[in-house]
Amino acid sequence: MAMEYPQVLCLWLFSLGFLTSAAQSSDRSGDPGRLLVLTVATRETDGFLRFMQSASYFNYTVKVLGMGDEWRGGDVGSGLGGGQKVRLLKEAMESLADQQDLVILSVDSYDVIFAGGPEELLRKFRQSNHKVTIAADGLIWPDRSLAEKYPSVRTGKRFLNSGGIIGYAPNVHKIVQQWNLNDNDDDQLFYTKIYLDPLQRERLNITLDHKCQIFQNLNGAIDEVLLKFGTERVRVRNTAYDTLPVVIHGNGNSKIYLNYLGNYVPNAWSYERGCVVCDRDTVDLSKVEEYPSVMLAVFIEQLTPFLPEFFERLLLLDYPKEKLSLFIHNGEVYHETHIQKFWDTNQLVYRSLKLVGPEEDLSQSEARNMGMNECRKDAGCDFYFSIDSSVMLTNRQTLKLLIEQNRKIIGPLVSRHGKLWSNFWGALSLDGYYARSEDYVDIVQGKRVGVWNIPYMAHIYLVKGETLRTELRNRNFFVLEKLDPDMAACRNAREMTVQREKDSPSPESFPMLRPPKGVFMYITNRYEFGRLISTVNYNTSHYNNDLWQIFENPLDWKEKYIHPNYTRIFTENLTEQPCPDVFWFPVFSEKACDEIVEEMENYGLWSGGKHQDKRIAGGYETVPTDDIHMSQIGFEKEWLHFIREFISPITLKVFSGYYTKGYALLNFVVKYSPERQASLRPHHDTSTFTINIALNNKGIDFQGGGCRFHRYNCTIESPRKGWSFMHPGRLTHLHEGLPTTGGTRYIAVSFIDP
Ligand SMILES: *[C@@H]1O[C@H](CO)[C@@H](O)[C@H](O)[C@H]1NC(C)=O
Ligand SMILES: *[C@@H]1O[C@H](CO)[C@@H](O)[C@H](O)[C@H]1NC(C)=O
Ligand SMILES: *[C@@H]1O[C@H](CO)[C@@H](O)[C@H](O)[C@H]1NC(C)=O
Ligand SMILES: *[C@@H]1O[C@H](CO)[C@@H](O)[C@H](O)[C@H]1NC(C)=O
Ligand SMILES: *[C@@H]1O[C@H](CO)[C@@H](O)[C@H](O)[C@H]1NC(C)=O
Ligand SMILES: *[C@@H]1O[C@H](CO)[C@@H](O)[C@H](O)[C@H]1NC(C)=O
Repeated sequence: MAMEYPQVLCLWLFSLGFLTSAAQSSDRSGDPGRLLVLTVATRETDGFLRFMQSASYFNYTVKVLGMGDEWRGGDVGSGLGGGQKVRLLKEAMESLADQQDLVILSVDSYDVIFAGGPEELLRKFRQSNHKVTIAADGLIWPDRSLAEKYPSVRTGKRFLNSGGIIGYAPNVHKIVQQWNLNDNDDDQLFYTKIYLDPLQRERLNITLDHKCQIFQNLNGAIDEVLLKFGTERVRVRNTAYDTLPVVIHGNGNSKIYLNYLGNYVPNAWSYERGCVVCDRDTVDLSKVEEYPSVMLAVFIEQLTPFLPEFFERLLLLDYPKEKLSLFIHNGEVYHETHIQKFWDTNQLVYRSLKLVGPEEDLSQSEARNMGMNECRKDAGCDFYFSIDSSVMLTNRQTLKLLIEQNRKIIGPLVSRHGKLWSNFWGALSLDGYYARSEDYVDIVQGKRVGVWNIPYMAHIYLVKGETLRTELRNRNFFVLEKLDPDMAACRNAREMTVQREKDSPSPESFPMLRPPKGVFMYITNRYEFGRLISTVNYNTSHYNNDLWQIFENPLDWKEKYIHPNYTRIFTENLTEQPCPDVFWFPVFSEKACDEIVEEMENYGLWSGGKHQDKRIAGGYETVPTDDIHMSQIGFEKEWLHFIREFISPITLKVFSGYYTKGYALLNFVVKYSPERQASLRPHHDTSTFTINIALNNKGIDFQGGGCRFHRYNCTIESPRKGWSFMHPGRLTHLHEGLPTTGGTRYIAVSFIDP
């Protein structure tokens, strides 16, 4: 069965008409109209569509053989086979055999990309000065014992590879008409035997493309090739022979490398024009009548900081909630309170909500299989959107943008803030683990922007429900050999490995799973989507554990705990000076204030405001407060880092050029209440300067309070929660704490540079 493709159909008909008339005239083999590409494909895999796109870009005339047929050519991915291809070619050649000047190019399509056009191809073919030119390979396959029968070559590849054949129709016909084997017999062996027969080689005028003028087989030759960027298009250069091959073939184990090349060749991305193909085949959600249904699957597979914030961001996703079904797997008992909170307020917001908790004791792969199967088994599930708790989605449009990109599998690029650690790999090592592709850093840093075909991704991705029910119908998707669940899933997608299952859909409903050619996985960095947080070193022995994350996840710490108007101190001089040289500015968020107070109350060992104090050098405090030191709750290191990161820049600004290294021995939270200690008598601080941060609200949490600076007869009566005072500690700024008359007042104080 043959199938012509709409984008090339008219050319095909045109050239057929042209062929008949031209056959009578002189040799016109330099005319691109005299070239016909024949390829065998039983299914429109992603690789096939990529081949057709490159063919249509160069205006090749392509005829596809076998589309819709069941593949019976064996497992060419790992063993012998491919005879079906020769049979189909033989059938197709019968009607073309007498067209003397028609040039036939027979190539694979699932793993082939055109890097040059028809004129160039025909020119190079003529230059080969033979009637048939077959691709060459450095590796011999399938029968190594035939090596010595091959003519020797001085430079270039010696062995035959049947993935690419170009020749005049009568000669190609004479080759393939010799085929009388089975569909699962080996095609390459068939061609090899003809080529190795000296008589046939001469009679049919066959040569091999030893120096990759036309055909570049990538298997075993990856080190030979480089991308060559031009303004209009990108090519592949063979550096061993200094050639620019026209047909790039990702044979054998080189598919991942072909996918990498295909991100550029022939015109997908270039320095001058950026991503040329990013808007190809996209959909516009603003034009659809109804939004697709999405199953949003959340995986909490390890202790994760900032989980409440994760859920807040999830709720903010801009997508109709009635189109979202939620599946949550939580493997951590610690997080049950967070989930409960989310559940209580949102269980009616989504179309449905399913929660699988730690009591189920699922392994990660079991949980991921379960979530994915929820979508797979539901014909109404249009998309499966999987997101791990370690992904902080900052772009509310993420889901829409991914759906609009319209790929079978696509993930948004997320990386650790300021790091090269991301959720994808651009290449794989020989044993299947991480390897750095040449473009990895540029993609992570956003220097190359586009939609990238990559071999591995994790943590967040969108998969079409239809793809899960057809090509990727493996219900045990996250299991393969001993691989980690995500690595197993990616290899299953790349190789479309389907394990035979009793209850899987019958083969008739989706017959052609061979040869195993993968579903492409893409990562997009066209937008900023969010970041990955670090889940290592998450110590959950405190009351509010995220407070301790200032080193491990500084950006998330800042977003959670630093006042939203903090940066305006620098951009808009958002500081006040209520008394001479007493500066006042916002520094802590509500959450920071509340959690620090909670942490102290949870610890509970307030000093009681006594003069005797074992915590300080000398053991005697002249002006004691009722307090708890940061060091007592194990927060000293984090607190000093906070001072260096967020207080030092302000000091530099308000005390023009005074640079503090943030050295402070005394850092503590003071508690004032009428029942205990209500005020503090006038005193100097043992500091160059002091910060004093209000941790709660006057009028709501307490009455009275405030601070008075005697020298200036200046009183600040209404401290603001989250705002800090900063004033010189000695000499000029004798001050006192005014009585708290009701409730409890908390402040955080540091004596800096004592
Ligand atoms: C393909 O054909 C179109 C229409 O004739 C033409 O505009 C385009 O330049 C051709 N492409 C190439 C790569 O020659
Ligand atoms: C192959 O054909 C070319 C012309 O296309 C001719 O010049 C050459 O001698 C032939 N080679 C052999 C080995 O017959
Ligand atoms: C976690 O913090 C507690 C209290 O500060 C400390 O005793 C413990 O050693 C820490 N655990 C780890 C693994 O760092
Ligand atoms: C930040 O400043 C703006 C403008 O002055 C104000 O409306 C807003 O309430 C401030 N945010 C907070 C959390 O105080
Ligand atoms: C910034 O604000 C402070 C406090 O209100 C004030 O003393 C200072 O003059 C201001 N600086 C500028 C450059 O406006
Ligand atoms: C201090 O200020 C208050 C009101 O601002 C004023 O009534 C009082 O006289 C001042 N005291 C001194 C000693 O200047």
